[in-house]
Amino acid sequence: MFGNSVCSYPVRGEFGNNQYRGNCTGYIIRDFVESYLKSGGLFADPSIGGGTSVDVAREMGLDFFGTDLHSGFNLLTDDFKTVMQREANLIWWHPPYWSMIQYSGNQWGTEANPWDLSTMDLADFCEAMIVAMMNIHDATEANGHYGILMGNMRKNGQYFNLSSMVERIAPGRLVDEIIKIQHNCTSDSKRYAGNGKLVRIAHEKLLVFRKDKTQAIYLLHKLMQRANNSVAMTWRASIRRILQASGKQMKLAEIYQAVKSYADTRQNNHWRAKVRQVLQDERFFHRVAPGLYELQTA
Ligand SMILES: C[S@@+](CC[C@H](N)C(=O)[O-])C[C@H]1O[C@@H](n2cnc3c(N)ncnc32)[C@H](O)[C@@H]1O
Repeated sequence: MFGNSVCSYPVRGEFGNNQYRGNCTGYIIRDFVESYLKSGGLFADPSIGGGTSVDVAREMGLDFFGTDLHSGFNLLTDDFKTVMQREANLIWWHPPYWSMIQYSGNQWGTEANPWDLSTMDLADFCEAMIVAMMNIHDATEANGHYGILMGNMRKNGQYFNLSSMVERIAPGRLVDEIIKIQHNCTSDSKRYAGNGKLVRIAHEKLLVFRKDKTQAIYLLHKLMQRANNSVAMTWRASIRRILQASGKQMKLAEIYQAVKSYADTRQNNHWRAKVRQVLQDERFFHRVAPGLYELQTA
């Protein structure tokens, strides 16, 4: 059982095929089960890879359902609940960390499978993650849990925060974020190109969600609401910053001028109306006279 929100397993243990690249230790799966599985409930894994969860479930004597794209199950086209013929109380998902390790045509099969999440470009991968997580959410019993173990990666010097992406788009309520310290990964021996000063990524995140009663598709509106709120917030924040940086009262035309470069990135033809709407928020802006504004400091 997890004692706190950081876990570390220096020895991976004898679970599954340790030659299957990107495999995880069975100890984290055991802690996950002990922390969240309702006694007697079904435990499931839609991407078993080298079979780590299979061995953990066998050792713990669990009612278990496990499969993978390599065994003919596709999280992006098959309904997980239908395939299991019931809902699971707890689902473990350890997806590819995007293209960090390619699975089809490499760990299994003779050629790349287009449904394999590790073979996609980033945009397709992100969309596929939404589909997969909705499928997993809907295959979980009400009040049951699912957990996603995800790592972050660097590619050509750029940092991809895949675990943050999961947290933002997963349906259900986030109940825990567990940092897993990484041991013995291939990148340990790799020197990053360039100045060699990059911080080596040495953790993964296990994000645990509780299933809402609602179907995942209805939870998408929350995602859109969040996106809309964030757009509204960035408009307000940018205008606050413009007035803050100027340190004086500004005419509307000056505010338009200052915000124009941000507005161009938003591709919003009605951005001047948006600016006027934002300026009406009296918590942050004070209309000194018609067309003249200052930051609200009271
Ligand atoms: C990180 S590995 C899982 C490793 C596993 N936890 C272990 O310890 O061996 C990710 C797995 O996701 C599977 N996968 C990729 N795309 C999939 C899809 N569309 N449906 C189901 N599984 C998929 C891959 O075949 C791979 O086995």
